[in-house]
Amino acid sequence: MYTQAMDTAPPDVLAPVRNADEAAREAAFEARVAAGAFVEPQDWMPAHYRRTLVRQISQHAHSECVGMLPEGNWVTRAPTLKRKTILLAKIQDEAGHGLYLYAAAETLGTSRDEMLQALHSGKAKYSSIFNYPTLSWADIGTIGWLVDGAAIMNQVPLTRCSYAPYARAMVRVCREESFHQRQGFDSLLVMMKEGSEAQRAMVQDAVDRWWWPSLMMFGPPDADSPNSAQSMRWGIKRLSNDELRQKFVDACVEQARVLGVTLPDPELKWNEARGHHDFGPIDWAEFWRVVGGHGPCNTERLGARVKAWDDGAWVRDAALAHARKQIMKEAAA
Ligand SMILES: [Fe+2]
Ligand SMILES: [Fe+2]
Repeated sequence: MYTQAMDTAPPDVLAPVRNADEAAREAAFEARVAAGAFVEPQDWMPAHYRRTLVRQISQHAHSECVGMLPEGNWVTRAPTLKRKTILLAKIQDEAGHGLYLYAAAETLGTSRDEMLQALHSGKAKYSSIFNYPTLSWADIGTIGWLVDGAAIMNQVPLTRCSYAPYARAMVRVCREESFHQRQGFDSLLVMMKEGSEAQRAMVQDAVDRWWWPSLMMFGPPDADSPNSAQSMRWGIKRLSNDELRQKFVDACVEQARVLGVTLPDPELKWNEARGHHDFGPIDWAEFWRVVGGHGPCNTERLGARVKAWDDGAWVRDAALAHARKQIMKEAAA
């Protein structure tokens, strides 16, 4: 779902020194992309474009997979069979998103093992939103509404990303994210309209905890996103972090009114002159703390992914042994 970390790369990925030939090739590449052309894996591309995409797509893939963890622990506790099947389907979708995205990143020449190694060693990031705990059933609906909702805002422009395999993956992913957002909203709506006072309070509490981290999913303010301008020029990004965040806030205000929940921001109000809602300051110190590994669940989330990798070693070994056997059989035939 989730691509916030795309702008949190260190400055060492900024444009490298090039010779005249490379600079000319890069200028031609940028002109092609600016004219709306898509880039396929076999096409020439600047090394920095390739690195940026590997970083962004692999972080996106990691986020899809880590994102299953906060929801997975609610499958057995979903209140009805209907909610359980919906949640199972959603979590399976997220696994599928992770797989499409690892495959898309592999077309750039980096293996899945290398990407996972980067995740497990802490070098690669995933969306910081998944380092928050899911404390009640209302958290699951709220994740669907706000977190998948923010993911859609982020990802719809990526269906026009200049790197074609990523753009193609995003078309299907966005359709599924739309279902995720709706199931979350529906789950909250039922509790708000037909539930008890305690259920309504549970929903409000979940919204209070998830609202601000959801706004952080769009990444740091434009002024603090040193890689954004380059990504916009390359057609990787189509809208800036602040533009996307504003669209999300504007959409959520109306949805919150329908639900009957209060968004936890006393400064949230319509600004007639701007044609948008103003909102209060985001606690970026918290964002950087969580991205830096010190959120409530960072250790638990990464630990779960490393354990899944270790526990799956026998499956990988068996698959490799089978493949070797097949090759030997074919060679002997
Ligand atoms: Fe997803
Ligand atoms: Fe999703």
